[in-house]
Amino acid sequence: MTDQKRVFSGMQPTGDPHVGNVIGALSNWVRMQDEYDTIYCVVDLHAMTAPYDPANLRRERADLAKMILAAGVDPERSLLYYQSEVPQHVELAWILSTLTGVGHLERMTQFKEKADMGGQTLGLLAYPVLQAADILIHRVHAVPVGNDQAQHLELTRDLAERFNSRFGHVFPIPERITPEIGARVMSLADPTSKMSKSDPSLKSRILLTDSTDQIMKKVKSAVTDTGTEVAFDWEDKPGISNLLEIFSFFSDRSIDDLVSEYGASGYGAFKVAVGEAVAEGLKPIRDAYEGMSDAEVGEVMASSATRAREMADGTMTFVRESVGLA
Ligand code: TYM
Repeated sequence: MTDQKRVFSGMQPTGDPHVGNVIGALSNWVRMQDEYDTIYCVVDLHAMTAPYDPANLRRERADLAKMILAAGVDPERSLLYYQSEVPQHVELAWILSTLTGVGHLERMTQFKEKADMGGQTLGLLAYPVLQAADILIHRVHAVPVGNDQAQHLELTRDLAERFNSRFGHVFPIPERITPEIGARVMSLADPTSKMSKSDPSLKSRILLTDSTDQIMKKVKSAVTDTGTEVAFDWEDKPGISNLLEIFSFFSDRSIDDLVSEYGASGYGAFKVAVGEAVAEGLKPIRDAYEGMSDAEVGEVMASSATRAREMADGTMTFVRESVGLA
């Protein structure tokens, strides 16, 4: 790694990744490799904050690692490792937790939503502090994520500032990097809520492993709005606007351009074109995923973790000195 600016981001191995993850985050992960030192993480410790089965966790974290590599994260240019293999994340999280108010954590949106779904554990409450540690342990400058992570990034910035003013300057204040189009891809089954891995309806999201046939069916059954005109209008046409954003991403064409071509074509023809663009855009990822062996993935994960531990230990040396532990 050189002295250029650093980027960190993470993804949870809970359920298969979907097009929202690609459009909102992964595509920036891949693009930023050209400009930054890039550090990416399969955040397996975070996945333990919801009820889970150990055998599934083992499989899902390996599958997600393979998918991230298939999507274009290049081990020659980026680190990609399992969070649990770099224990400094947890050590820093403990220190940051001593600077975090419980009330602040209790008011965070994702805690309130998830606590309603499955038990208010200390792990779930402390989740955003571990996320802040993930980012700060590598002293990064930027974090590519979707809009749903805005509150977590604000807490991270707050904690970095609080630490620096209490103990001396250790952490840069990281910027959130969100795409202009597709920062919040919506569910195909309900365009007023976010496309999410935890949605019980499989029709709500397109998975990176879906076949062309499955993609076409899901797009055709996507909930759309009254009327027939294809227009970009989140107020009156959230279903069509969501499909337009997805289409724009996979076709690399502007929304205006798509609206002028499909405005009067009717929803049916429009949906076929969207489905085809998504299937075509995902095919290289699916092919790369199928062509990669578990052993290859294992090697990348192990060697990245070794390097990430060294880097994280460098930060912890400063942190331990700053807080009076060395
Ligand atoms: P996770 O695993 O839920 O999502 C991974 C990334 O995908 C983005 N994303 C979306 N973007 C647009 N539209 C959507 N519908 C959509 N759904 C998900 C997310 O914003 C995210 O960028 N807490 C994080 C994981 C995490 C992390 C970190 C992220 C742990 N530590 C440190 C960045 C830095 C999460 O649950 O993401």
